[in-house]
Amino acid sequence: MTDADMASPVGDTDAILEFRGVTKSFGGRAPAVRHFTLSVPRGQLVVLIGPSGCGKTTTLRMVNRLIEPTDGSIWLEGRNYKSYNPVELRRRLGYVIQRIGLMPHLTIGDNIAFVLRLLGQAPQARRARASELLEMVGLDPAEYLDRYPTELSGGQQQRIGVLRALAHDPDIILMDEPFGALDPLMREQLQEEFKRLLRTVSKTIVFVTHDMDEALSMADVIVLMKDGAIVQVAPPEEMLRHPADEFVASFMGRHRVLRQASEVSVADVMIASPVMTPEASGLARSLELMRRRRVNSLLVHDAGGHYVGVVRQSELQDHIEAGDQSPVGSLADRTADTLAPSDSGLTAMHQLLSHQQLDSLPVLDADDRIVGLVTRGTLVGLLGDALRVAADVQEIRAEAASAPAGEVAR
Ligand SMILES: Nc1ncnc2c1ncn2[C@@H]1O[C@H](COP(=O)(O)OP(=O)(O)OP(=O)(O)O)[C@@H](O)[C@H]1O
Ligand SMILES: [Mg+2]
Repeated sequence: MTDADMASPVGDTDAILEFRGVTKSFGGRAPAVRHFTLSVPRGQLVVLIGPSGCGKTTTLRMVNRLIEPTDGSIWLEGRNYKSYNPVELRRRLGYVIQRIGLMPHLTIGDNIAFVLRLLGQAPQARRARASELLEMVGLDPAEYLDRYPTELSGGQQQRIGVLRALAHDPDIILMDEPFGALDPLMREQLQEEFKRLLRTVSKTIVFVTHDMDEALSMADVIVLMKDGAIVQVAPPEEMLRHPADEFVASFMGRHRVLRQASEVSVADVMIASPVMTPEASGLARSLELMRRRRVNSLLVHDAGGHYVGVVRQSELQDHIEAGDQSPVGSLADRTADTLAPSDSGLTAMHQLLSHQQLDSLPVLDADDRIVGLVTRGTLVGLLGDALRVAADVQEIRAEAASAPAGEVAR
């Protein structure tokens, strides 16, 4: 290696961590990580996401120097990794490994202070630091310091795994699915807790997850990987709006659809001339109109075009059979929700999906006049993308869920 390799002539000066064309091969197989080039700005939370086996853990392990790149280089603050000695790196990095990985024979206190011990800190100072950290996440040191990992719940263990990475106050924290083993509710709680924690300590974080909800909620920047290579690097909002290709679009799946749905308005998607009838119209005539127009419900309005309610075909039929002579207005039901043209597609979706018995919702202007109708069919148009990609997303998720552990504690 020449001196030029050790300095950073082309380096990104804002980046604390840089990957330049990093490749990692294990034996004769296709490389686990391929030409990985990425700048991680100081103080940012960068999320690596992608299907199982795409090289996320391998990338983190190279940063932690558990393994060496086959090709390319990694840079910390403009200095090539190779110029750091292992102890120096250990000081700068914290690592939360996949599947928690607490050491069962060590107490919680000793687990948290594990790296501090490697760095040669005295027992008393280690214990004090462990207490301080436990308090930060609301666990009483008196109760937890001397317990063993198996005596803790999954959520508590994951907290300890995070604290262990924070104990020596590193600049960079590598987190490999830190909340992966938790149920969704607990995971959300820990995410919030962790975000609060981050507001008090400024850290650069490389965070691995399978979970797009988690990525969207935590990331400053998302790095989407596939087969060892980066497919797209972008902030969450941009990745939602401008996915680089079909793979990204399908990986964002329902999130993109929800985003799209929240951006279009009801006025954009509604049927602008729904089938309507005046309230004074007779029942048989109304039924005939429904048959002719092939609809199974009818919007009823008064003489001024104001919404009176909706009638269903089956109801009309029953009343006609019973000899009811009243006008259709007497059967109109206005109990269901209505929409405004300015409501978002997402609102329409929520309302329709939360009322299983409803096939459609009327759209009313500020004066209560009927201006349109949103049907389940309208939503299918809106969801077209989602339905098409849902299968892909399911597949990716299923793959992700069967991820192998394959990790060692350091
Ligand atoms: N020590 C190793 N020896 C041989 N192959 C390995 C080794 N570690 C990882 N691999 C392979 O490299 C590829 C990437 O693995 P890696 O653990 O980085 O994936 P991942 O993205 O973290 O997946 P997951 O989401 O399942 O944790 C996989 O095909 C894996 O089998
Ligand atoms: Mg992994």
